[in-house]
Amino acid sequence: MMLGRFSIWQKLAAILVVSVVVVQAEDPYRFYNWNITYGDISPLGVQQQGILINGQFPGPDLYSVTNDNLIINVFNNLDEPFLLSWNGVQQRKNSYQDGVYGTTCPIPPGKNFTYTLQVKDQIGSFYYFPSLAFHKAAGGYGGIRILSRPKIPVPFPDPAGDFTVLIGDWFTTDHRKLKAKLDGGHRLPFPDGIVINGHGSNGTTFTVEQGKTYRFRISNVGLQNSLNFRIQGHLMKLVEVEGTHTVQTTYESLDIHVGQSYSVLVTMDQAAKDFYMVASTRFTDKILTSTATLHYSNSNAPVSGPLPGGPTDEIDFSLNQARSIRTNLTASGPRPNPQGSYHYGLINITRTIKLVNSADQVNGKQRYAVNSVSFVPADTPLKLADYFNISGVFRVGSISDNPTGQKMYLDTSVMGADHRAFVEIVFENHESIVQSWHIDGYNFRVVGMDGGLWTPESRKQYNLNDAISRCTTQVYPKSWTAIYIGLDNVGMWNVRSEFWARQYLGQQFYLRVYNPVRSLRDEYLIPKNALLCGRAEGKSS
Ligand SMILES: *[C@@H]1O[C@H](CO)[C@@H](O)[C@H](O)[C@H]1NC(C)=O
Ligand SMILES: *[C@@H]1O[C@H](CO)[C@@H](O)[C@H](O)[C@H]1NC(C)=O
Ligand SMILES: *[C@@H]1O[C@H](CO)[C@@H](O)[C@H](O)[C@H]1NC(C)=O
Ligand SMILES: *[C@@H]1O[C@H](CO)[C@@H](O)[C@H](O)[C@H]1NC(C)=O
Ligand SMILES: *[C@@H]1O[C@H](CO)[C@@H](O)[C@H](O)[C@H]1NC(C)=O
Ligand SMILES: *[C@@H]1O[C@H](CO)[C@@H](O)[C@H](O)[C@H]1NC(C)=O
Repeated sequence: MMLGRFSIWQKLAAILVVSVVVVQAEDPYRFYNWNITYGDISPLGVQQQGILINGQFPGPDLYSVTNDNLIINVFNNLDEPFLLSWNGVQQRKNSYQDGVYGTTCPIPPGKNFTYTLQVKDQIGSFYYFPSLAFHKAAGGYGGIRILSRPKIPVPFPDPAGDFTVLIGDWFTTDHRKLKAKLDGGHRLPFPDGIVINGHGSNGTTFTVEQGKTYRFRISNVGLQNSLNFRIQGHLMKLVEVEGTHTVQTTYESLDIHVGQSYSVLVTMDQAAKDFYMVASTRFTDKILTSTATLHYSNSNAPVSGPLPGGPTDEIDFSLNQARSIRTNLTASGPRPNPQGSYHYGLINITRTIKLVNSADQVNGKQRYAVNSVSFVPADTPLKLADYFNISGVFRVGSISDNPTGQKMYLDTSVMGADHRAFVEIVFENHESIVQSWHIDGYNFRVVGMDGGLWTPESRKQYNLNDAISRCTTQVYPKSWTAIYIGLDNVGMWNVRSEFWARQYLGQQFYLRVYNPVRSLRDEYLIPKNALLCGRAEGKSS
């Protein structure tokens, strides 16, 4: 069901004219009922148990317009606790809805929980995924798209069609076996293949009309590998990255790191036949490849010829491509004013945080850490402990702002931060694999990345003008990436590796963005239907 939609100007006019009597027209609501079940799937030809949403894998797209309220009632029909989280949806003032274990109690088997999300001041392409245990290896994910409100200009003509393309590495091993391997102190093995919208090679077809232009929203929903995406005989014009309209640059192929989302426009300007779409692993000794089919509706020939090759270099191609992805300053984002009107480069930094990832063994088991702390979950969601003033669940300051050189240890790491601080975060990667970092509740500016160690001198090469604003950034091997982030969203926010085994084994922590003066202007109350668990059980919300 949808109620009427009003432009901001109509709303302002309504408020000005009859401000005392009339309640501001509410943003529209969209209602979803999602039934989570196990079901047989065989994306790589091997039958296994997948997580389905209303019988589908991947799950249905969440479709919305800026500021819509999404009421999603999730019925957990698995035999274990379950949560969905929303990669890139900011949950403004509302970390209770974030759906990670640090903010939200798991939905017990046979029970339901209704998420109330508002896609406030956002546009763009994102995805949802199951956040607990190792459920992500069983599917349970789907695309999220947030369209611009009517009247707000989008910097390209309406495409003839709009496709969700979910690519990711895939294991034919049951997710419980993978979890048991990690619990037993082992690393995750190399994946078995790549899936595109839940299918292996030749399994998915996108049908298009010759001469028309289509939008493809591509997300890497996999567990660990960076993937390169390309389409035989066609160029891709990048138009949006995780909610930001980009400078429209044309690419033959795109490196998409785990957790990232890109929108491209593709014009069907070739002869009437079928073409390969290819996703393949990057920076791996053995390269896994999978294909889908781009089918012209008037096609008279099946796919043929060699697959288009991906980049073969180590890092340079990828690094240069990353630097070329910038914000279009004159385009509108979710609001009518241009994206460039927020001059992030002029704001003074109030704090610098340097985060170094590491891999080691603790008590004879494989673990991963940030600044020496390997995160272990508490018995109670941290956000609920905070709300109900339950002491002893976590300590603010249990992870330091800088690497300490200490040996790796376990803790429930929470970093405190002041509401409205403007922070520089430097991710430094001393390891030999690509890292992918995500921050819930926020977009940030990726101001710089380069090889070697970061020094204050590195600031000279920052892009303080049109850096891309996004929620997930890669950090190349033996390299650094620097971001600027304005902490304007109060809450408890997960900062994590998108390399899922690393996240599961401790490469994550929570950022507690706090204002001592509690105010509804800054943060909503705990939702009335919040599930209560651990030491919050039995408290009255
Ligand atoms: C969910 O699916 C299960 C298994 O198919 C079915 O038994 C149950 O009735 C469904 N529940 C809802 C709420 O649709
Ligand atoms: C479970 O679903 C019912 C409607 O079927 C709803 O009234 C209730 O609030 C939901 N429970 C939670 C915890 O959201
Ligand atoms: C940026 O956006 C503007 C405004 O919509 C558009 O006219 C222009 O072509 C875009 N520029 C680039 C380089 O993408
Ligand atoms: C995909 O289809 C093409 C054309 O029919 C065929 O040559 C190729 O072997 C197929 N690939 C796989 C992995 O089945
Ligand atoms: C930033 O700091 C400089 C030096 O302390 C000061 O002169 C300037 O006014 C500050 N700018 C803003 C926007 O606060
Ligand atoms: C928690 O403590 C704060 C500050 O002392 C207080 O304002 C708030 O009401 C307390 N919350 C609960 C749920 O007791």
